Amino acid sequence: MTSTTRPFRHPRRLMMTSALPYANGPIHIGHIAGAYLPGDIRARFERMAGSEVLWVCGSDEHGAAITLRAKKDGVTPREIVDRYHSEMQEAFAGIDMAFDHYSRTSSEKHHQVAQDFFLKLLDSGSFEVKTDAQFFDPEASQFLADRYITGTCPKCDAPDAYGDQCEKCGSALSPKDLVDPKSTLSGATPILKDTTLWYLPMGRHEDWLRDYIDNGKFNGKAHHDARAWKSHVTGQCRSWIDGGLQSRAMTRDLDWGVPVPVEGADGKVLYVWLDAPIGYITSTMEWAAKAGQNWQDWWQSDDAELIHFIGKDNIVFHCLIFPILLKEHGGFNLPTNVPANAFMNLEGDKISTSRNWAVWVKDYLEEFPGKSDELRYVLTSIMPEQKDSEFTWSDYRERVNNELADVLGNFINRVIVLTKKYYESEVPAIDRAKWTADEDAIIQALDAAPGEVAELIRRNRYRDALQAAMGVARLGNKYMTEQEPWKLKKTDEERTAVILNTCIQVAANCSVLLEPFIPQTAQKMQAAFGITSARWEQASGSMMPHGEVLGDLPILFEKVEESTVDAQVEKLKTSLASAAPDAACEPLKPMMNFDDFQKMDLRVGEVIACERVPKADKLLQLTIRTGLDERTVLSGIAEHFKPEEVVGRRVTLLANLAPRKIRGVESQGMVLMAESADGSLRFVTPEEGTAAGDTIR
Ligand code: MF3
Ligand code: ZN
Repeated sequence: MTSTTRPFRHPRRLMMTSALPYANGPIHIGHIAGAYLPGDIRARFERMAGSEVLWVCGSDEHGAAITLRAKKDGVTPREIVDRYHSEMQEAFAGIDMAFDHYSRTSSEKHHQVAQDFFLKLLDSGSFEVKTDAQFFDPEASQFLADRYITGTCPKCDAPDAYGDQCEKCGSALSPKDLVDPKSTLSGATPILKDTTLWYLPMGRHEDWLRDYIDNGKFNGKAHHDARAWKSHVTGQCRSWIDGGLQSRAMTRDLDWGVPVPVEGADGKVLYVWLDAPIGYITSTMEWAAKAGQNWQDWWQSDDAELIHFIGKDNIVFHCLIFPILLKEHGGFNLPTNVPANAFMNLEGDKISTSRNWAVWVKDYLEEFPGKSDELRYVLTSIMPEQKDSEFTWSDYRERVNNELADVLGNFINRVIVLTKKYYESEVPAIDRAKWTADEDAIIQALDAAPGEVAELIRRNRYRDALQAAMGVARLGNKYMTEQEPWKLKKTDEERTAVILNTCIQVAANCSVLLEPFIPQTAQKMQAAFGITSARWEQASGSMMPHGEVLGDLPILFEKVEESTVDAQVEKLKTSLASAAPDAACEPLKPMMNFDDFQKMDLRVGEVIACERVPKADKLLQLTIRTGLDERTVLSGIAEHFKPEEVVGRRVTLLANLAPRKIRGVESQGMVLMAESADGSLRFVTPEEGTAAGDTIR
């Protein structure tokens, strides 16, 4: 087996992390293809290769992603994270993510670890403390995280850009850039109010970061092979550094998160992007405590290297910010590679949780039970390693049918069936006289394949690695089809044995080489070849000695019907329709509770008189009988209704709205109107049979 030679370090341990997913929604195929499947393939491979590897993950349970979701659902953040922490774990288990440990950031242990980390940085002078004006929602009386502020994008004029980013044009924003900012909590216009924040002055670190990213150097020494990093990753880092690194606040004024462990910092928590990556360390600590190991051996030893598997939206945090934190803390290794993946689109559109445009792992596993390998195979084949890629159901079907079923499944099945039929399942002995150049070529390919696949995996080229491993199955399938042992059997016993023996070698190799990618199928195949706990080095041109008895094989892959994938596309479209509000529809306001609702006194009123308000083009003055009284209500409907159209109507009246003077006239309540997307107004008229004074609830 070849392995890449590294001029710099030869670490013994491989510390791997996959991005801690936000516990605010279920896991979809984009997550899997981005940050988890590559980690899983790598970890499985390294374990088979006998490397010391540790792969950790966990749920990211803090930050605006969680609190926003909780607000939307009208539940507590705790309820949200508990629900999704277990739901995500189930999805990961279902698709066979073999983490060594899966943790969560809301745990007491993690709070402790993150606070200690923060204090160490505080001690070493890594932060700048500044009191600064921040957006504050005067109605909700709280400071607003960037995500809680929307407004018009200053770059592209999109109307609902977030305080940290415009999703339309992709610009990174700061809340103060937004035109006409609004709080998403109350809809109020936020005001600026002073608060104290701890900043990470990233500008201080530009020089060494540039050396680290561009040259793979750290502390003046060779650290990693910079050319082994993906160009889109180093490219993004360079453009951040070249743009000048701004100070970034490492604390937030929020009540959900890791409390800032400083006297007088009540109501302040650590910035989620400070606490979450430290979660990798917490996860390692928890694992080490169980395994009786030292976590430091994995994070702080010269003998270990660190690799982060992430999606491209996380690059700056893992390649610049977290390295700064690790360096400032001292004692930690920096990542030697961050093989970020781009995004996977779905049927021509961006995957979107809020629009329900996604293939959810949970749904897939329910609808395609026992078929996690099919999905893993397809996702690996189209993994967005260098640029965005696209999942379509028709492509899923083609790959499963043409590659898994017709090539791999068919080949392995023919090998097992023919060996059983001709040799009572025993690997036949070979007569060297019947050996040809065809067999030489096959055996050579088998001897080379493990090294080739290993090298591709270690260079984080999982698509190519899978192709290389599948190439072995293709080779075997082609060889068998061309040699036609079923025809030779009657005329040339010895030659048939050579061919079958060779086919068995190929099939057994497949069962090892494909294990990192499709572990369940590999297990079934290995069981048939009598292989237990396969080691990578076992794969070779002569791995099955003659006389060995092969077992039976279940059907490996079923073909996917066209109607099955059509139904999936149909399902996507209908769920989109039900999730997506009409383009013109106003977004939902924040949740209110029943008490809020009960404060409103709504009743049926009858308009007994109506006239225009002098010098006010928009206002009509209504006299309304309420059952309690007759009162005056001003309504901004003069451009829509003539006074005579209003008299005699029954209306819905908010009767206990505090009176307000408008143009010198006191308005005592509000008439409810329905507004359509085109701006037209209509009365909310109580049904026939109601009368003035009836209550509405
Ligand atoms: N929760 C983040 C996301 O889903 C990823 C956090 S990665 C970590 O984008 F490093 F912070 F843990
Ligand atoms: Zn924009």
